[in-house]
Amino acid sequence: MRVLITGHLGYVGPWMIRAFKEAGHHVTGLDVGYFRECVEELDGFTPPDRERVRDVRDVSAADLEDVEAIVHLAALSNDPLGHIDPALTHAINTEASLRLAGLAKSAGIRRFVFASSCSIYGGVGDKGAPADEQATMDPLSAYARSKVDTEAGLAALADRDFEPVFMRNATAFGVSPRMRFDLVVQNLIGWGFTTGVIRVLSDGTPWRPIVHIADMARACVAAVTAPAATVAGQAFNVGRDDNNFRIREIAETVVGKLPSVRLEITGEAGADPRSYRVSFAKAASALPGFQAEWTLDRGCDEIIEWLRAGHLREHDFQSRFFVRLKQLQHLMAERFVDEEIRVRAPA
Ligand SMILES: NC(=O)c1ccc[n+]([C@@H]2O[C@H](COP(=O)([O-])OP(=O)(O)OC[C@H]3O[C@@H](n4cnc5c(N)ncnc54)[C@H](O)[C@@H]3O)[C@@H](O)[C@H]2O)c1
Repeated sequence: MRVLITGHLGYVGPWMIRAFKEAGHHVTGLDVGYFRECVEELDGFTPPDRERVRDVRDVSAADLEDVEAIVHLAALSNDPLGHIDPALTHAINTEASLRLAGLAKSAGIRRFVFASSCSIYGGVGDKGAPADEQATMDPLSAYARSKVDTEAGLAALADRDFEPVFMRNATAFGVSPRMRFDLVVQNLIGWGFTTGVIRVLSDGTPWRPIVHIADMARACVAAVTAPAATVAGQAFNVGRDDNNFRIREIAETVVGKLPSVRLEITGEAGADPRSYRVSFAKAASALPGFQAEWTLDRGCDEIIEWLRAGHLREHDFQSRFFVRLKQLQHLMAERFVDEEIRVRAPA
């Protein structure tokens, strides 16, 4: 199948390209390239078959020629990015996604797999059973709100000819050629590995389900290729039931891997209202051929091995090379992008 992957030059993108190519699909990537330079070649990852440098807000029908399915990753992709300007998160994550979906539908592209997020469950915490796909949504950030709104807009477009699928991914972890340290597992490991101290500023109690980016990618391959009756118009929480952790438990697992590291739970930032425990049973039983494979334990080993192999090179793990918000702020400060983070034409 000829698959368009938007946002392929991000953290998850390289795994997505790899999973689709390994499954025998032809991949076109589409990305504006905010993180193009934040990359390190890693074995096993190759570019897409074709690439379009495009702001997702400016996609045209011509960009969708020859495309049979879309995996839509392009987004301002976490809570802190929503702080730049919530309106931008809405414009890119929701408005542009729905415009893309409308163009796709007009072009006869049936399957539209959307990278949503478990953060839509917000503050459900450990009240009652873990949140399944029917649980009440409780978006607590501009980012989470953008995912809720996009799902609703896509659902309104769904019919016999248009088959959106909502992949509600847990918080990602794992090694990527575009590595991130603004995600909880990597962040805790980064602090421990480089300073010998992990300081958790919350009280450590919030629940945060996690998923490896390789599992996110394989879930999307399953969602693109599954029969319509199984997936069309459906949401799937993507993760593993045994990867629901409190922040404190993730930190303790990291300390178990780096025994000389000291753990301090300071609580100085107060309680974090974002806390959600999630059921991943539906994807495990209903997404054909998909089981999330990566445990936290295995993921910690992978990331620590990456650090021990010297992949940080000259970079600070908290620098813009690894932290999305800082890279976008850099692009703005250097005027590579305008106030709407549109790439400026060369002078
Ligand atoms: N990483 C996670 O923990 C996680 C968890 C749940 C869901 N998701 C979702 O998965 C998707 C991929 O996440 P990621 O971690 O790879 O994010 P990322 O920020 O690393 O990558 C996003 C990519 O989208 C591109 N992009 C952003 N705005 C664009 C625009 N206007 N036009 C074209 N391209 C644009 C960026 O250049 C970047 O390459 C996102 O939709 C995200 O919300 C991620």
